[in-house]
Amino acid sequence: MNLTEDQIKNALKNVRYPGFTRDIISFGIVKNVEIVDSNVKISLVLPKPDGQLEEKIKQAVKKTILELPGVNGLEISSETRPAKAPAGQASPGEPKEKKISNIKYFIAVASGKGGVGKSTVAVNLALATSKLRNNVGLMDADIWGPSIPMMMGTNDKPKTNDKKKLNPIEKFGINLMSIGFLISEDDTVIWRGPMVHSAIKQFLEDVDWKETEYLFIDLPPGTGDSQLSLIQSAPITGGIIVTTPQDIALLDVKRGVQMFRKLNVPILGIVENMSYLDCPHCSKEIDIFGRGGGFKMAEKFDIPFLGEIPIDPEIRKSGDYGNPIVLSQPNSDVAKSFTTIAEEILKNIEQN
Ligand SMILES: Nc1ncnc2c1ncn2[C@@H]1O[C@H](COP(=O)(O)OP(=O)(O)OP(=O)(O)O)[C@@H](O)[C@H]1O
Ligand SMILES: [Mg+2]
Repeated sequence: MNLTEDQIKNALKNVRYPGFTRDIISFGIVKNVEIVDSNVKISLVLPKPDGQLEEKIKQAVKKTILELPGVNGLEISSETRPAKAPAGQASPGEPKEKKISNIKYFIAVASGKGGVGKSTVAVNLALATSKLRNNVGLMDADIWGPSIPMMMGTNDKPKTNDKKKLNPIEKFGINLMSIGFLISEDDTVIWRGPMVHSAIKQFLEDVDWKETEYLFIDLPPGTGDSQLSLIQSAPITGGIIVTTPQDIALLDVKRGVQMFRKLNVPILGIVENMSYLDCPHCSKEIDIFGRGGGFKMAEKFDIPFLGEIPIDPEIRKSGDYGNPIVLSQPNSDVAKSFTTIAEEILKNIEQN
């Protein structure tokens, strides 16, 4: 069977851009692929003159392409994109990540289905992280059902600053952005694919995230095309999957794992929410949904199990009243569980 350009391009999707989780095809640095008698010619266009970067990419390309059956020879040429963009903007061809320069780590919080407590987990993890590190942000990417304004107890309107960027809303010491701040509750917006993409792009590029180090992103529930597109809008450092322990929800974990793996996003781990109920009358832990499913799933997919959060009416109340439990009851077991999970995430990111 003859080699095709598509086969080569597909293989190149496994080559990561050094220092990023995304591949060189999605970065747009593969300018051309040509096949002449089972010899492959690949031309690259690099964002800047950088011998080390060039060498790393070429070596990785070589390793991947020469392993393909039917490839007899490989020639890689490279050039540097000439145009220089004004300060603060990415030059053409420079990875999109560069534009979102002030954010160091992006943590996406996902779930296979709705209502499992993804936003609750995202909010409390962001706040627990802010007790451990400076400069934490929380972005509500759930444009169909934003819940960050309610859970964080603010409906302030973001203002434009002198850099012509939107200032995020600051609450409880972290920076927030949500579509809920920009449209009123009565506005029904039918978001179509390109609009979703541009809303999130704007949240990343047109919001002045200042020196945000850890940005938690609350994704909309599900693992469909919209979620994929949202994840592709940012250089995600790692993904967290929130689930409840019962079987149906756990099937969705599989989809979540597949979604992140498809995009080469490392999975930081699984959080099992609503694991058990601490019975206030009998002092026993009651396993309402069959505790432990999240742990089993983590083992099955060989990803970390980050921890379990019990069902606790205080979690719901504090969420509804805009005073998350990590802050309203900092000494509770629930708050401590969120802190332990946040520590685990920081350890994982900072050691890798
Ligand atoms: N561990 C918990 N104990 C008690 N109530 C909880 C717990 N986790 C979440 N809840 C409550 O369950 C409801 C759904 O939670 P949340 O909005 O965080 O879920 P979600 O997965 O983000 O939902 P959606 O799919 O709508 O985005 C909220 O009222 C929340 O306060
Ligand atoms: Mg939510």
